[in-house]
Amino acid sequence: MKKRLLTGIQSSGTLHIGNYFGAIKPFLEISEDYDSMLMVADYHALTSLRDPAAMRANIMHVVKDYLALGVNPSQVVIFKQSDVPAHTELAWIFNCLVTVPFLQQAHAYKDKVAKGLEANAGLFTYPMLMAADILLYDTDVVPVGADQKQHIEYAREAAMKFNNAFGTTFKEPQELIMESIATIPGTDGKKMSKSYGNTIPLFGTKDEIASAVMGIVTDSTGDFPHHVHAIHKLFQADGDLIPLYEEHKGKYKHLKEALIEDIERIIAPMREIRTHITDADVKTVLEEGVLRARAQADAKMQVVRERVGVSLA
Ligand code: TYM
Repeated sequence: MKKRLLTGIQSSGTLHIGNYFGAIKPFLEISEDYDSMLMVADYHALTSLRDPAAMRANIMHVVKDYLALGVNPSQVVIFKQSDVPAHTELAWIFNCLVTVPFLQQAHAYKDKVAKGLEANAGLFTYPMLMAADILLYDTDVVPVGADQKQHIEYAREAAMKFNNAFGTTFKEPQELIMESIATIPGTDGKKMSKSYGNTIPLFGTKDEIASAVMGIVTDSTGDFPHHVHAIHKLFQADGDLIPLYEEHKGKYKHLKEALIEDIERIIAPMREIRTHITDADVKTVLEEGVLRARAQADAKMQVVRERVGVSLA
């Protein structure tokens, strides 16, 4: 039996190159060796999104992006979280096992509080929904960017707490974080993130990508644009880049234009494929995916309900 691989992305906007290099590319590189699942975390997105039209559009975008990037729905179960009610049900059970101080240590919650913003209860308990996403399917490996490391630790903790209380039921999953792409920097050198407004869109038009690249912050005192190079390395072997950066020392505009061309070379064919993927295709993929996901989740939940004592069968 193959081991289980699972990862997910929130439907909170269009994907950026950090999502691709941090999560989807590592997923795709090994997905054939595993029993693989790819999820749209729409209920996680609800912690920050209150616009139903945007939610629907984002779900479509994320699945189209998965398909355009080469995820094969006959080999990988593609599904959305909200279609499998067992996720929220299991999250509730985990919420009853972990403490408030434990959840207060979660980065996403702490960051919000540190900024003086009010976190909703969904954001507070977010790690337990993610634990449920992972543990329901006996996941062995979760490819993610470095920012999700703590969440996988929380999932292990939830598994341990449940196993200790009710008997061994859940596997403890491992994160897969590729060192070289653990944190893709954004146009300002900080982690690329929708919430920082420093992203390069994965499937933006060439003009949108060019405008994001031209906006990369460069250090005017040096002649080596580190932020440009850090992104460029993703699209071109560093060995080939060094001579280019040597030859064009201090010529930031030229180097940014070279980066735009290199992004375009890699993204354009996938963008072209993406134009042929329809909303109807997405619905079909999700309808088929959910049947496979739900069968496994339901079987697992039956055991869980028996273990906690709510099932009278
Ligand atoms: P999300 O939607 O914020 O991001 C999706 C994936 O992209 C990675 N990522 C990055 N990697 C490297 N550098 C970056 N700048 C960068 N920005 C984003 C993230 O690490 C992530 O792997 N909680 C998750 C979604 C989720 C999930 C799950 C993931 C819900 N349930 C179960 C795995 C398994 C999240 O918010 O990711």
